[in-house]
Amino acid sequence: MLLKPLPALTILLLGSVTFAQQKPLSAIDKKVEALLAKMTLDEKIGQLNQYSADGLATGPLTENGNKFQQIKEGKVGAMLNVRGAKDTRMVQGYAMQSRLKIPLLFGLDVIHGYRTTFPIPLAEAASWDMRAIQSSARVSATEAAAGGIHWTFAPMVDIARDPRWGRVMEGAGEDPYLGSMIAAARVHGFQGNGLGNLDAVMACVKHFAAYGAAIGGRDYNTVDISDRTLWETYLPPFKAAADAGAATFMNSFNELNGIPASGNRYLQTDILKGKWHFKGFIVSDWGSISEMVAHGFAKDGKQAGEEAINAGNDMDMEGHSYINNLAQLVKEKKVPMSRVDDAVRRILRKKFEMGLFDDPYRFSNEDRESKVLNLAPNHEIARDVARKSIVLLKNDNELLPLSKNLKNIALIGPLAKADKDMMGFWSVMWENDHLVSLYEGLQNKLGNNTNLLYSQGCDVTDTSKRGFAEAIAAAKQAEVVIMAVGEHFDMSGEAKSRANIHIPGIQEDLVKAIVETGKPVVVLTMSGRPMIFNYTADHANAILQTWWLGSEAGNAIADVLFGDYNPSGKLPMSFPRSEGQIPVYYNYKSTGRPSQNDLGINYRSGYNDLPNSPRYAFGYGLSYTTFAFSDLKLSKNKFSKNESTTVTCTIKNTGPYAGEEVVQLYLRQLVGTVTRPVKELKGFEKISLKPGESKTVSFVIGKEQLSFYNQQMQWGTEPGEFRLMIGNSSDHILLQDKFELVN
Ligand code: NOJ
Repeated sequence: MLLKPLPALTILLLGSVTFAQQKPLSAIDKKVEALLAKMTLDEKIGQLNQYSADGLATGPLTENGNKFQQIKEGKVGAMLNVRGAKDTRMVQGYAMQSRLKIPLLFGLDVIHGYRTTFPIPLAEAASWDMRAIQSSARVSATEAAAGGIHWTFAPMVDIARDPRWGRVMEGAGEDPYLGSMIAAARVHGFQGNGLGNLDAVMACVKHFAAYGAAIGGRDYNTVDISDRTLWETYLPPFKAAADAGAATFMNSFNELNGIPASGNRYLQTDILKGKWHFKGFIVSDWGSISEMVAHGFAKDGKQAGEEAINAGNDMDMEGHSYINNLAQLVKEKKVPMSRVDDAVRRILRKKFEMGLFDDPYRFSNEDRESKVLNLAPNHEIARDVARKSIVLLKNDNELLPLSKNLKNIALIGPLAKADKDMMGFWSVMWENDHLVSLYEGLQNKLGNNTNLLYSQGCDVTDTSKRGFAEAIAAAKQAEVVIMAVGEHFDMSGEAKSRANIHIPGIQEDLVKAIVETGKPVVVLTMSGRPMIFNYTADHANAILQTWWLGSEAGNAIADVLFGDYNPSGKLPMSFPRSEGQIPVYYNYKSTGRPSQNDLGINYRSGYNDLPNSPRYAFGYGLSYTTFAFSDLKLSKNKFSKNESTTVTCTIKNTGPYAGEEVVQLYLRQLVGTVTRPVKELKGFEKISLKPGESKTVSFVIGKEQLSFYNQQMQWGTEPGEFRLMIGNSSDHILLQDKFELVN
C-alpha cells in the first residue's frame, strides 16, 4: 500500500508560499549538460564534496583549510549541519561568490522532527499507522525547509534484530514488510508533492546496506550475513524507499561480507543504480570513505576515494578523500572521467529539481521560518502520533484507564519531569518551552482536582537508594502510583550500543519498593530500544511502553492514562527476556529439532534455562477494549500463481470502549526448495471500532505475497501448501487456515 502525498498542511496555512514550476526532466538534463560542459575537473570534484558546519558533529571535522573559503572557490557541493534561514542564507552567499555560482545543498539529520519533535522512529513504527507516520515526516519537512534545509538524512530503514544496537531507535524495527511500508510513507512525507515545492526536502535513505546487522549490536561493526538474508530481510525497505522516489541514498559504515559498503560496487552500482534504476545520488556516511583505510580495504585516503567512486558512491561526506585525491586519480586514469561526470550530473540534477538555480536562497527565508515553526496544528499532529505510538503491555484487572476523579496520584521516577529525555537522541532544533513533560501533561489533564505527589526516587543511573523512602511515603498517600522509568535520551542512538539493556541503574529496585507498598502501580517504560524488565513485567499492575515521544510526550501519555485515547500501538520489535536470547525475532526458521514448550530440553533447539520466546513479541499490544476475530473465509483454497485468493474475516469490538485493532496477516509456506520462516507478516490493517461494532477486513494474497528467492536466488513462487494465520500479535494467532498454490 503506497499512500499518496498528503496535502501540505502548513502550506495551506500560509498562502504566501509559492510553488516552483515542475520542469520536465529533459529540460533539466539539458541544463545539467550545459553546466557540466563549463566545469573544470576541480569544480566537478567540488560538487562531490560535503563538509559539516561546527556543532552536531558525529565524526572528526574538517581540519585542513577554511571551509567558507573553499566554498567560494567552488570546492564544496553540500554542507551539513548549517541550520536556520539566516545561516543557510549566509553560507549560500559564499557559494554565490564562486565562479559558476552553483548553489550548495544544506543537509541535516531531521530524523524525528525539526522544531516540533515527534516520537522517535521506532516509536512511530509502533503506531502501524502509515498516515500518521507520513504526517509526521510531512510536518518535519515543512519546518526544516522553512529553516533553510534542503535535505534530511532520513529515513533510516535498517532492519534491526538486536536491541543492544543503539540505532534501533531510528528505524522501524525487525520486520521487512512493516519496514517497507514505513520507509515509503516517510519518503512520501518528506518529499511531499515533489522536489521543487518549498515544503519538500530530499529524503536520504540510509544506511545502505545491512548496517542493522552489526555483529554483537556494536555500532559501526562488521556485518556478515548470507545473500539470502540480505535480500529477504535487509534490502526490502530500501527497495520500497527507492520505488517511492527517494532522491538520495546514504551508504554505511559497515563492511558487508568483506567489502565496506562505501566501496561496495555490488550494493551501489549493481543493485541500487542498476537493478533498481535509482536516478538520484549516493552520499557516503560521515568519513566512511576514508574509514576504509581502518577497515584494511584501502591503503590510504587516495585508494579509498578510488574504491568509493568506482563502486558508485557519488558524494563524500567529511571524508576528504575526493577533494584531496580525485583530480590525481583521474589524471592517473584510475577513475574514469565518465564516472565523475555521472556523479556530478546526479547531484546537479537534484539542485535543479529543488529550484536552487532559479533562486539559491528560496529556502532561506527568515520571514517564512518565523511563521512555520511551532504552529499549533503541528503540535496537534505530534500529539496524535505520540498517542498512537504508545503500547499497552499489561493491564491487570483493567487498572487503566484511570479515573480523572482520583484525589491523590503519586508520580514517581527519574523521568517524571524529564524534558530533553523525552525528545530522544536526534532532536536537533527543539526548544524547551515547547516541550510537555509527563508531569505537565498530567497537570494539564487533571487541573486542580487531583494532588500530584511527585518524588524522583532515584536518577536514571543512580546507585544509591537514598531517595526511596520519600518515594515510598508518596506512594502510601496515593490511590494509584504512576512510575516513569527508562533511559536518558543519549542511551540509545548513534554510538550508543549497550551490552546491558535492562532498565538502567536501580530503577527496577525502585519499582519493587513501590510495588511492595501494595498500591496499584502503572509503570511507564521510556526508552529508545526494547529494554528488559522482568520484575516489572511480573509485578507491576499495568505497563505502557512510551518510548521517547517528543514535544507532546506528556499530553499524549496523559491522554492514554486517563482514557481520552485508547492505546492501539503494537511492538515493531521483540522485547527479550534476557540479553542471552539476542537476536530474538518472530520470523525465524524452524530447525530440525524445534523446541517444545519453548525450551530446549530433551535435545531440542533452545535454551535449557530460558524460553526461546521473547518477553513481548513483535506485533503485541493490548487495548482497553477487547476484540473478537471470526468468520475466516478464503475465496479459493487452491489457486495458481497467476491467480489470487481473497481472505476475509470479521472483527468485533466486544468491550466497553471504542478502540483500534491492528489485524495482522502472517503466512508460512510449509515446504520449499529453500526453508521458509515459521511466519512472515504479509499484510495488516488498522481498524477503528465502536463498542459492539463489527467490520470485515479483507486481504488479497497472490504472487507478490507468496514469492521468495529460490535456490538460484531467483524471485518467484513455488507450488505448495501454505498456512495462513490472522491475529493481533505474531504470538497470538486467532484464526488459521491452509491453502495450496498449484502449477
Ligand atoms: C553519521 C550517521 O551514521 C548518519 O546516520 C548521519 O546522517 C550522519 N552521521 C550525519 O550526521
